[in-house]
This record gives sequence, structure tokens and C-alpha cells, in this order.
Amino acid sequence: MFVFLFIAHASIGGLMFGGGLLGAVLALRLADRPSQGRMLRNVRICLWLLLSQSVLLTLALLTGLWFFIGYRVAPLQGWFVAAMVEVGLLYAAVDQACVPRLFALRRRLDSGAAVPDRAARAAAADPGLVGPLTAVPIGLGAVAYLMTMRPAPLQSALFAALTLLSAAVVRWAGTWPGRGSSAAFTARRLRIGPLATVLVLAVGGWTAWSWQSSKLPSSTGMAGMGPNSMAGMAMSGEGMAGMAMPGATSVATLAGPGDGAPDASFELTVREQATMLASGARVNALTVNDTMPGPTLVVHQGDLVQVRLVDAAAVPVTLHWHGLNVPGGEDGVPGVTQDAVAPGGSFAYRFRVDQVGTFWYHSHQDATTQIARGLFGAVVVLPRSAAPQPLDVVLASHLWPTDRGDRFAFGPADGSGTRAVAAGTPVRLRIINTDDKTETFALGGTDYRVAALDGTDLAGPTAVRDLSLSVPAGGRMDLTFTMPSTPVVFQSLDHRGTSVLVKPTSGTSDTSDTPDTPDRIPAVAVRGSFDPLHYGVPAAGSTAGSTSAVTASSHFDETYHVDLDQRMGFYDGRFSPNLYLINGALAGAAPPFVVHTGDLVKLVFTNRTVESHPFHLHGHHMVVLSKNGSTPTGSPVWLDTLDVKPGDTWTVAFRADNPGIWMFHCHNLPHAAMGMMSMIVYEGVSTPFRSGPATHNDPAG
Ligand code: C2O
Ligand code: CU
Repeated sequence: MFVFLFIAHASIGGLMFGGGLLGAVLALRLADRPSQGRMLRNVRICLWLLLSQSVLLTLALLTGLWFFIGYRVAPLQGWFVAAMVEVGLLYAAVDQACVPRLFALRRRLDSGAAVPDRAARAAAADPGLVGPLTAVPIGLGAVAYLMTMRPAPLQSALFAALTLLSAAVVRWAGTWPGRGSSAAFTARRLRIGPLATVLVLAVGGWTAWSWQSSKLPSSTGMAGMGPNSMAGMAMSGEGMAGMAMPGATSVATLAGPGDGAPDASFELTVREQATMLASGARVNALTVNDTMPGPTLVVHQGDLVQVRLVDAAAVPVTLHWHGLNVPGGEDGVPGVTQDAVAPGGSFAYRFRVDQVGTFWYHSHQDATTQIARGLFGAVVVLPRSAAPQPLDVVLASHLWPTDRGDRFAFGPADGSGTRAVAAGTPVRLRIINTDDKTETFALGGTDYRVAALDGTDLAGPTAVRDLSLSVPAGGRMDLTFTMPSTPVVFQSLDHRGTSVLVKPTSGTSDTSDTPDTPDRIPAVAVRGSFDPLHYGVPAAGSTAGSTSAVTASSHFDETYHVDLDQRMGFYDGRFSPNLYLINGALAGAAPPFVVHTGDLVKLVFTNRTVESHPFHLHGHHMVVLSKNGSTPTGSPVWLDTLDVKPGDTWTVAFRADNPGIWMFHCHNLPHAAMGMMSMIVYEGVSTPFRSGPATHNDPAG
């Protein structure tokens, strides 16, 4: 509905702009129409235009009002801008002021004479008629500008002044055709010339200034966080580089257990290789241990895990443990928690896992490209219990860039695959969305339970059936069911051709993919969608431990608003129609959110754009307090990635119990690369690492 309203509001504005432009052209030509008939026709068209403009204006104001009341958000990127936009729309109301003059002119022209007389021409050139009609497209041009840009107050004031100035000029110039000698015409043109020059210079100068000032420094500490941003921290003008801050803890010292034999040890080697998906489509991949995606790491709760990352590729890489709340120094963010591992180099990650569930690892260096090329894999943490575990099936959905275009797949299996599972086997399907967009799935042919979200078990999951299951970018969802004696199908609803048919066998299970199955995949019925806010029981079933009792009435030590916006403009010297902002700032200029160890922190997300922002916090899980004003009635919902859809307001909380410097960004990675990236910084923690073109560290790409 939000998107529908947004499109409606914007297209009404567009129609009004088009109509206004036509009206302006007609008004400017009105006085020099050769015949009375032609002049009369112009007047009639103008009257019809004005009538439709008034209808459109009413609709525009109604849809605008709907935003304010229905969504408690401004229709277009912030109250200030919205007010400007609605004021801009009111320009159109000015138009209506010339209706009586048009009627008077029409009466005068009804005389039947062939050629309009002097009085008629003078009336047609009346500034009171031509002025408003020509000012309207300028006003609506301002609307269009404000709808796509999110200007700073100073720019807005400047722009408003320029708009008014040009409206005045046009109003005055609109009287040309009807009067004056050519001498007067020339005199006017002489006066307009300098004005136009000033206008062009102002716009050109502002553009050049925004372009230059958008360039990021070649190397910064705190991944580009500006020096003005660190509340309560002594900062030098050069960011946090060098870190001579007394008493500060370097994030590099916040490492996992340094000694002791690991319970689970892996060596992961990254290579650049040409590989193939099941269909034969070729991928210029970054493989891990020669597979794509990388191998699933299966460990047990309480394990001390050691992963040695070896870079045998030509590009620097890191590994980030998405959803695992590892110590600050093990988080794998280049320029923040470590230097990216250079080609030929290696890095050892060590951490103890206390969480149980489905997680994933991925490179955080040039993440947009490296994840797309396959530098990721699943991490499954099993409970340390003797009870028999269900059959684990990991399905990592991914959009692969191939020589045949982008192809959607579960792991490397694009198209339909088949697996065989013995009837009666308990199965746990671990869905990981490694894509940039929200994906929806359905499991057909059996009842199932949604056992966990983002690596945290839901309390008291009930059996459901035929629901669409939406998983945000970076998110995970675990489904459990007992294999029936009839086939079960798991399917992407967004990419219908990608599915897994699970066939029952009476013998042993075979979970390897068998592509090119001759079987017909049964259609999946969908009756409703899974809503985690009203599922399960409100018992403490959370694995998030000490923070499980957080409710909306808890005491919060900090409350931060996270307003998500979009505008066009320059970023790092390049123009983009789509920049993504957090609280009005782009990554590099975005102030980090400062917290203190032990704080209970509330975050309020508002998405004022027309795209989803799967917002991810490193190192912590967030409990959902409310979404669009409605509070969860079922199981507590702990997430590390929130699917903040257009118009959504989410209120969540997390316990600051993991000191470090934590990335806080949109997991639609191109959005992060175009500005939607910030950090949550524990006071007193600093980083010796730097990012930027002069370093090898580039967390987003
Ligand atoms: Cu999976 Cu910073 O992300
Ligand atoms: Cu986003």
C-alpha cells in the first residue's frame, strides 16, 4: 500500500507537471493567435486543463494526507521536504486564480469577429493570467526536484529563493507577446540575460561543489567515519587513525581464546576459478576449498572453533561470521577489525560458539562482488546433546552472475533438483538467503514448523502448511518436518524454476543433488504468509540468554532512530540516481552509534524509501518490540537482519554485551556500497585499521 500510494502521489505530481507545462505554453502563445477562433480554442483548452489540475491537486493532497495519517511518516523523505513538496503542489492552486480571467476572455471572444481586437489581445496578455499559468510548471519542477533529492536546509532555502525569482521573471516575461516594440523586447532580453547567467552559474557551481565535496579521503580510520561523529571521544582531524587515544582498547585485542586446542578446526582456501552451475552456466567464481559456495562448517555448541583462511586468489579477502556473535576482533571486517588478507597470505579466526542454529560466513572485503562470486558458505551449530539429530539439509539461495545472465540457485543447483529421503525421517531444512533481495519460498506436500529464525529457536512453533515464507537478504529460516511417504517440494516463489523435489524412499536417504530430473514438480499451493510476530508462544525459549526478557516497557539506556532515505546526487565523485542514507548521511559521513557495555539499546527504524532495506547488525541479535505499531504476540523474535520494507517502522532492542566496533548496514549490498552503512561503536574501543583506496581494505565494494 505504501508503494502504491507513493507511486500514485508521484505520478499525480508528474501529470500535474505535464499539464502545467502545456498550460504555460498555451498561455504564452495566447495573445498572438492569428484568429479569434484559434484564441478561443486555446482558452477552452486552458480551462479544461485547470479543471483537471484542480482534480489532480485534490487527489495529491488526499494521498499526501493518507501518508501522514496512515503511515505516520511523511510521504516523501522527511517532514521538511514533505512540507516543501506540498507547498510546491499548492503552486497549482495558484493556477485557479486565473479562471475568472479566462472566462472573461472567453466571453469577449464570443463576439464573432474574425480577428481578435486590441482589447482582447491585451486581456490575453494580462500578467494576472499568464503569470500564474507559467509559474506553475516552475513550482511543480521544484516538487519533482524535492521528490528526488533530499537537500540540506541551506540548499533548500537557496532553491526556494531561485524558484520564486524565476517564477517572478517568467510572470513578467510572460507579457511579451502582447505588447511592446522590438526595442522594448531587446531591453527586456538584456535584463533577462544576466539573470539567466546568474541562474546557470549558481546551478553549475552547486553541482561542481557537490561533486568535489563528495569525494572520500584516500584513507580513513573507522572505515571513513568522520571526526565530528565520535561523541565523547577525543579526535584528531584525520579520523581515528594512529589511535593514540589514552585508555582506548584496540578492537584487534578483542580476540577469541588465544590458546587451547580447537574442538573444530578448518582450513579454507580461496581461489579464483571458472566453475559451472548445475545447468552448465559458467561462473567466474571465488571458490572455497574448490567448491562454490564454500563447504558447510558443522560444529557443536561450546566448541572452540578455529578457521584458517588462506588467500590463493589474486584479490584480498576476509571472512565474516554472519549471525555468530563472535568477539570483536574476529568479525572479519577489513579496515575495521583487521586488514584484508592479501593474496598469498592467511589469517586465523578463533572463537567459541555458544549459539545453536544456522549461520553463514562470507567475505566482507568488496562484499558486493565477492559474495556474488561465491565466497560464502553455511555454518551449522548443533546442540551438544546425545539426542538423535534430524537430517540436516542446507539450502543457500543465491543469484549467480553467469555467462547466461543472473541465475537463481540453491547452492550451485539452478533449476530443479531432486533428493531422496527415507519416509519417517525427521528433517531440518536450513534456508539461508545469500542474495541481495528478500526471497519468498514455499514448502509443499507436508505440514511443517518454523523452528528458528536467524539462528535463534522460536518458542513453541506450531504446525503450519502452505504458507509463503519470506527471508530477507542475509537472513535464515529453519523448517522442520517428518518426511511423509509422498513427495515434498521446496520452491522459490520469486524464481519459480528453482526448486527441490524431495522424494520418499523406503531405504536410506540420499541428500546429494540430482539435477535434470524427469519428474514433474508438483505446484505449490500458497494460502497466506508466515508472520513471525504472531507465531509460537511468548515463553522464554530464546537462545539469546540474558536478554530474553526485554519488552517494550524495559528500561533503555540508549534510544537511536535509524531513518532510511534515498536521494540522487554525488558519492565519492560519482553521480548516482540512487544514494542510500542513514539519518541523512552517507557511509563515510554517517556518524556511528555509540553504546556502552551493558546498555540496553533501543533502535527505531523507519524506511522512507520505496525499496526494502534488510538491515543487519554485526555481533548482536535484536529482539523485535514492534513492527508498524503492532507488538509480537507469540514467540520472542530475535533477528540479526530485519526486513525493513518501504514505509515500515520497526522498534527493536539489543543488549550491548559484546564490546567492539560493529558494522551496521543494509544487507542489500549495493545499497551498502552506495551509502547505507554505519557502525555501532562501544565507547573506549578503537581500531588501528584503515580503509579507503590508499589501503587494501574495502568493506562494501
Ligand atoms: Cu552478512 Cu556485514 O554482513
Ligand atoms: Cu537497502
